[in-house]
Amino acid sequence: MSTQGHATSTRVDEIADGIFRISTPVPPSIVPGGFTFNQYVIRDDEPLLFHTGPRMLFGAVRDAVERILPLSTLRYISFSHVEADECGSLNQLLAAAPRAVPLCGQVAAMVSIGDLADRPPVALADQASVALGRHAVQWIDAPHLPHGWECGFLFETATRTLLCGDLFTQFGESHPPITEDDILEPSEAGRLAMDYYSHSPDTGRLLDRLADTAPATLACMHGPAWRGDGATLLRSLAARLASAPPRH
Ligand SMILES: [Fe+2]
Ligand SMILES: [Fe+2]
Repeated sequence: MSTQGHATSTRVDEIADGIFRISTPVPPSIVPGGFTFNQYVIRDDEPLLFHTGPRMLFGAVRDAVERILPLSTLRYISFSHVEADECGSLNQLLAAAPRAVPLCGQVAAMVSIGDLADRPPVALADQASVALGRHAVQWIDAPHLPHGWECGFLFETATRTLLCGDLFTQFGESHPPITEDDILEPSEAGRLAMDYYSHSPDTGRLLDRLADTAPATLACMHGPAWRGDGATLLRSLAARLASAPPRH
C-alpha cells in the first residue's frame, strides 16, 4: 500500500467541542472502494491523539496535528488495538513529541506495547479515566470487538464522544467530516463484503456496555463521524450482528 501523493488531501475538522478529526482519503487503486484513515485530536491542557495512522502517513498526520496544536505538546497517544493504521507510527510520534506516552488497555500493554513502544505505556484498567483538562477520557475494554484481544475504546465524557475505532467502518474516499445520516446500512454493506468482525460470544454484551455511555457523537476511524442517538445505533448494530452471520 502506498499513499504517497494523497497525503496532501488530508483534512482537519472540529467534530465536537475541542475534538478534531484528521482524515486522509485513499483511492480505490489502493483500497478497493476507496477508504479513509481518520485520527482524532482532543485539544486540552493534556492533548490526546487517538490513532496514529500507518507509518506511511506519518508526515501527513504530523502536519495535520500541527494545524491544531504544537505536536511537541502532545501528552497521550492512544489507540483502539494494535494494527498499522491504529498505532503504526507510534514510535515516530513519540520521537517527535517528547512529553507523550502511549495510552492503552492493560492487555495491549502486556502483550504488545510494553515491548513495541519506545516509551512505556500508561495501561488503563476497564472503566479507568484520565483527566485532560476540561475533557476526560474513559477506557472501555472491548476484547475482539470488532477484532483484537486487546481492543477497547475511549469515551470522552464532556462531549459524550465515543472514539469508536473500526465500528461503523464505511468504505469510499469522499465523506463529509460528520453526518447525521444513517451509517449503519452503509457500514453493514461494507462488512458483509469484507467481514472484519471476530463475532465473539460477548459481542452483544460489549455493544450494550458501549450503548450505556449514551454517546452523542461517534468518532469513527473510517468514514464520517456521526452525530445522533448513539445508544440506539449501537444496539441496532448489536441486533444486526446477532441476526446476520458472517459471510465467508
Ligand atoms: Fe482494526
Ligand atoms: Fe482501523
